[in-house]
Amino acid sequence: MKKVAVFVSGSGSNLQALIDCNQEVYSIDLVISNKENAYGLERAKKHNIKTKYISKSNFSLDNERMKETLKVLQENNIEYIVLAGYLNIIPKEIIEVYKNRIINIHPSLIPKYCGMGFYGEKVHKAVFEAGEKVSGATVHFVDNGVDTGEILLQEQVDISSATNHNEIANLVLEVEHKLLPKALISICS
Ligand code: GRF
Repeated sequence: MKKVAVFVSGSGSNLQALIDCNQEVYSIDLVISNKENAYGLERAKKHNIKTKYISKSNFSLDNERMKETLKVLQENNIEYIVLAGYLNIIPKEIIEVYKNRIINIHPSLIPKYCGMGFYGEKVHKAVFEAGEKVSGATVHFVDNGVDTGEILLQEQVDISSATNHNEIANLVLEVEHKLLPKALISICS
């Protein structure tokens, strides 16, 4: 089983999908958050998964924060990293150590509605205002850009019936919860 760390900043429903997925190729051994009260940390604790709160506020230098993150990952023999609603940039040093072993889930069909500032409901608001008939989710490898890494999996969903951006968010989230476990299984196999 490959040992996986999941980075969260919010509710962690994507983390929950990874936990709930019945599979034999990965184990979630660590959940890291930059938000002390992220519900994703609660979800991890309920499943006896080790958690770590690492944020800008408890480190004077970004470099110290990066070193602490790398130390925790290596102490836990982590092989793969999943960003599941994680809203901080991963330092280039960590991307280097975990080259082609970090994936991110983004709630749009990249290359549309992605990049700096496009996250969470901002994505769905832009999709709704543009009158799109389809949206979807993308899992991509993480490189030093924002949402620019090689695409691993993508799945679209019909949003023509949506009457507001929240309905789009819910339709896309359902796709995310299927796509992320599928993507993690594929890179861990
Ligand atoms: C999801 O929409 C994900 O695509 C985006 O942030 C949201 C995270 O949701 N990156 P959750 O914390 O996994 O519930």
